[in-house]
Amino acid sequence: MLLNPGNFKPSIPQNSTNPLWNELVEHKNVIARKSISELFEQNPDRAQQFSLKTSGLLLDYSKNLVNDQTRSLLIELARQAGLQTAIEAMFNGEVINQTEDRSVLHIALRESFQDNHRLAINSEIQQVQDRIQEFVEQIETGQWLGYNGLPITDIVSIGIGGSDLGPRMVYDALAPYQNPSINIHFLANIDGSDFINTVHGLSPETTLFIIASKSFSTLETKKNAEAARSWFLQQGGVESDLAKHFVAVSSNVAAAVEFGITESQVFPMWDWVGGRYSLWSAIGLPIALGLGYENFRALRAGAHQMDHHFLTAEFEQNMPVIMAMLEIWYQNYFGARSHAVLPYDNDLRRFPEFLQQLDMESNGKSCNRSGQPLDYNTGAVVWGSSGTIGQHSYHQLLHQGKQLIPVDFIVPLNSHNPVADHHSHLYSNAVAQSQALMLGKTLDQARSELFDAGLDKAEVDRLAPHRVIPGNRPGNMLLMDYLEPTSLGALIALYEHKVYVQSVVWDINAFDQWGVELGKQLSQSIHNQLIDEKQQPVFDGSTNELIALFRKGKI
Ligand code: F6P
Repeated sequence: MLLNPGNFKPSIPQNSTNPLWNELVEHKNVIARKSISELFEQNPDRAQQFSLKTSGLLLDYSKNLVNDQTRSLLIELARQAGLQTAIEAMFNGEVINQTEDRSVLHIALRESFQDNHRLAINSEIQQVQDRIQEFVEQIETGQWLGYNGLPITDIVSIGIGGSDLGPRMVYDALAPYQNPSINIHFLANIDGSDFINTVHGLSPETTLFIIASKSFSTLETKKNAEAARSWFLQQGGVESDLAKHFVAVSSNVAAAVEFGITESQVFPMWDWVGGRYSLWSAIGLPIALGLGYENFRALRAGAHQMDHHFLTAEFEQNMPVIMAMLEIWYQNYFGARSHAVLPYDNDLRRFPEFLQQLDMESNGKSCNRSGQPLDYNTGAVVWGSSGTIGQHSYHQLLHQGKQLIPVDFIVPLNSHNPVADHHSHLYSNAVAQSQALMLGKTLDQARSELFDAGLDKAEVDRLAPHRVIPGNRPGNMLLMDYLEPTSLGALIALYEHKVYVQSVVWDINAFDQWGVELGKQLSQSIHNQLIDEKQQPVFDGSTNELIALFRKGKI
C-alpha cells in the first residue's frame, strides 16, 4: 500500500507556452513508479548529490521523489519562466510589485549590501541604521531615561502582521542572546486581553512603547497605541513625558506625528519594504534593542550571504531555487495543498507562524500578473510547530493520512542549552521522522511484527492493516551548526527567496495583499452598526442576527 504518487492529479497551466509544464507530467508518470527508498538503493551517492551547503545552512533534499532528470526539468521550468531576469530585476530595484507600483528592496537592508550594489537609497538606509544603533546605545547605557530619571527596563512593541511577526519570532529564536536588563514585549491583538496581559506588572516610568506600523493606519495597532497612551497617562505619566516613552516606526511619518509622536522619534521606513519583509528595517528595532545592535547586524549579514548565493549560484546549486521548485513539484504535480515546517528547536517555535504570513500572504493568489484567472495551484497552506511536540499530535496524519504533505525539518546540530542527553534525542527524533516518512511500513512488515509479538493469525489479520504506513513521503532536512544570528538571518532570507521563485514560476505578484482588504472594510461598517443602536442592520440575515446578538450581549 505504498503511497502512490501516480494517483495525484497534476494542477498545471493548461495553455502555457512553456512546454516544461507538460514534460514534467510525463516525467512524473515515470518517476512515480519508483519509491524514494528505491532511489537510494540505486544510487549510493544520493545523499551527497542531492545536498547543498551555503551561508551556514546545509540542505539535504535527497529524501524527495526526484532524480537528476527531475531536477534538470524543474530548473529548466524555472529558467523558461524567466527566473534569472526576475531575480536581477529585484536586485536592481525594478518595479516588480506592479499592482502597488513599487520596487521590492528588503535585500538592500541587509548588512554589506551597499558594498556590492550601488542604489540611490543606500545613504538613506545607512542614516536610519545609524539612528537605530544610536538609539539602542542610548537605551543600553541609560542615556535615555524615563520621566522619573530611571532607565528603561521594558519595551512594548505594538504592531501586527509584518510589523510584529518577524521581530517577535527573531527575539524568541535568539533567546540565548537576549539582553537580560531589557525585557521586550509584543502587543498585536485588538483583543483587550492581549493589552491587559502585556501591560500587567509594567511600570510607566521604565516602559517604552514602539508603535510599529508601516501605514500607521492599521486598526489594531492604532487602538493598542491609543490604549497604551491612556494607560501611561492614567498610571502617573503626563503629556509632556510622552516623548520619553513613545517612539514609532512608519513610512507615514505625518500620521505618526498626528498621533502625538515627536517627529524626530519616528524611525522611517519606505514603500519598497513590504510588511512581511520588513524585520530588516526599523521594524526590527525590538530585535536591536532586545538582542543588541551587533546581533541585529549579524542577522542582516547572514541574510546577505544568502542573498549573494541566491543572486550568483547556478540554479542547480541554488538553495532557494531548489526548495521552491520542490514545492512546485509537489503542489502542482502531486496534489499537495499544504506544507509543514517543523523546527526541531524550541526557540524557533514561532518560525512557522512567521512563515505563514511570508508565504501565504505572498503566494495566496488566484490571478496572474496580467490579471488573468489561474487554472493551477499556487500557494500552499503553511503550518507546523516545534518538534517533538507535533509528533504526539498531528504527525499521525503526516504518516498515515491520505494527503501528501511535504515537510521541512529545521535542525541545529548543537544546542545552546545542553541538558543531559536531550539534544541527541531531539536530533534523532528529527532524523527518524524524516526516515519514517520515507520508509513507511509494509503489510508484511506489520504482520511479522505482530507474529513476533506472539499474536495468533486471526489477530494479525485484524490488526496488521491498521499498522501499515504508506511511506514514500518527502522531507527536506535543513541543518545548521547553532541557531545564531547569522544562521537565522540566512534561514529567513532562504524562505523569502523561495517564496519569490515560486511566484515567478506561477506568474503571480508575491508582493501585494489585496485579499486582506475586504475584511477590513466590512469590519468597519459592521462596527458602525454595533455601536449605533438606532441603525437597522441591512446585511444578510446571518450578519444582521449576529449584530443584534452583540447589542443584546446574550445568546
Ligand atoms: O492586513 C495585512 C497587513 O497589511 C500586512 O501586510 C502588514 O504586514 C500588516 O497588515 C500591518 O500593516 P502596518 O505595518 O501598516 O500596520
